[in-house]
Amino acid sequence: PGNCASLLVIFGASGDLAQRMLLPSLYGLQHAGLLLPELRILGTARSAMDDATFRADVADAVRRNVPATDLDEASLEALLARIAYHAADSGDPESMARLGERITSMRTGEILYHLSTAPRFYVPICVALGALGLAGPGTRVMLEKPIGTDLASATNINDGVARVFDEDRVFRVDHYLGKEGVQNLIALRFGNAMFEPLWNARHIQHVQITVAETVGVEGRGDYYDTSGAMRDMMQNHLLQLVCLTAMEPPARFEPTAVRNEKIKVLRSLRRIGPAEVQTETVTGQYTSGAVGGKVVPGYAEELGRPSRTETFVALRAHIDNWRWSGVPFYLRTGKRMPRRATEIHLQFRAVPHSIFDPRAKIAPNGLTIRLQPEERIELRLMSKTPGLDRAGLQLSQVALDLDLHEEFATSARRPAYERLYLDALEGNGTLFVRRDETEAAWEWVDAVINGWRANDIAPKPYPAGTWGPASAVAMTERHGHTWRE
Ligand code: BG6
Repeated sequence: PGNCASLLVIFGASGDLAQRMLLPSLYGLQHAGLLLPELRILGTARSAMDDATFRADVADAVRRNVPATDLDEASLEALLARIAYHAADSGDPESMARLGERITSMRTGEILYHLSTAPRFYVPICVALGALGLAGPGTRVMLEKPIGTDLASATNINDGVARVFDEDRVFRVDHYLGKEGVQNLIALRFGNAMFEPLWNARHIQHVQITVAETVGVEGRGDYYDTSGAMRDMMQNHLLQLVCLTAMEPPARFEPTAVRNEKIKVLRSLRRIGPAEVQTETVTGQYTSGAVGGKVVPGYAEELGRPSRTETFVALRAHIDNWRWSGVPFYLRTGKRMPRRATEIHLQFRAVPHSIFDPRAKIAPNGLTIRLQPEERIELRLMSKTPGLDRAGLQLSQVALDLDLHEEFATSARRPAYERLYLDALEGNGTLFVRRDETEAAWEWVDAVINGWRANDIAPKPYPAGTWGPASAVAMTERHGHTWRE
């Protein structure tokens, strides 16, 4: 495509995300033959290093993070041949000017900047690029999360970036949108006619979205302790899943149509403020325990000091619109849970009237979309229990269970950043987050966090390897609902 970027500049190129995800994903695209022949990649960070040293680091990062079966020396060489490095400090105009010269010397067409630094550098970097005349038409910028820590700081970053890059040239990453399973949610909803008529308050009793992780904070304590589960996961990944689950059908799978529908969902979220947080939210922090048979320390021990940061949050959200009026959306996410599992579960309403013997229990239908680690779609149905019974026909719950990894056993599932890079390089923003989405999400999250503060709510302890504090279960059971485990 004509507006494909031919230069990718990665800021924060020696950082953890670059090493674990970004460079291995560029390798994946190279290996799959999906990078334009003319694409060059310029890494930049503060540490001084020559091209050869950086290339050796890239080779290490790729070898460490790409499965051996996908490693191919020729592809790696071809990737390295595209790569250069230039040290720069965004706070030092002199060094940015020299970086600008390097960028200009490598420029052959459109440029994609990828900011994978601490967010406090986003505005200074953009402003410096603007001042160097390197941010006009033909350039775009990809920003990592977190965009701010609340609405005010997010607005500041967005305003600063907007002074240099128009919104249609800003690509905010939520890596969940790059996941195969998440895109499959869109395929499932809008590639099938049978779900949409049932996908509303008339037929769905409640929705559950769980993003459970077994990992702890893994040496990221300094960042995580200023964040917590609400900002780190709920503000972005879970709310994006809510949007894709709840939105109206967009007219097309393209950036404006999809994001216009998502923002309507975010704006319809009922505010949970100081008066509601006690009953509608639960926070927790893991203590020592065992995950997968391994004994692990508690959060405060890992951090080396006591903390009031939540590593678990569960809440009961409502979307106040025609489609979802009265349907609770239970959302939960936590670290050090018993299993890694990301899933969306739609619980249908009970049959309106039972024609069977009162002893025959009819469980409501449920549709579960498991996004990771496996991808499965499970539909729970009632079926006749085979055999003879004096009491009449007996029923059992059975599952129609589709394992997508098995179904597509021969198609490779690609990591999220491969999809995201491919789209950003081509200038397709459908799977990126628009400014208004980020800000609407922060506004809603801020109200909850302010509510916790106003009520002096501290997270409840839960042992590592459990599903969070017992009150998270109580919150759903008060309404006659149960978390799926
Ligand atoms: C990141 C969070 O955005 O997502 C991490 O900062 C979290 O805390 C990660 O572990 C989860 O991503 P994934 O792809 O492993 O589900």
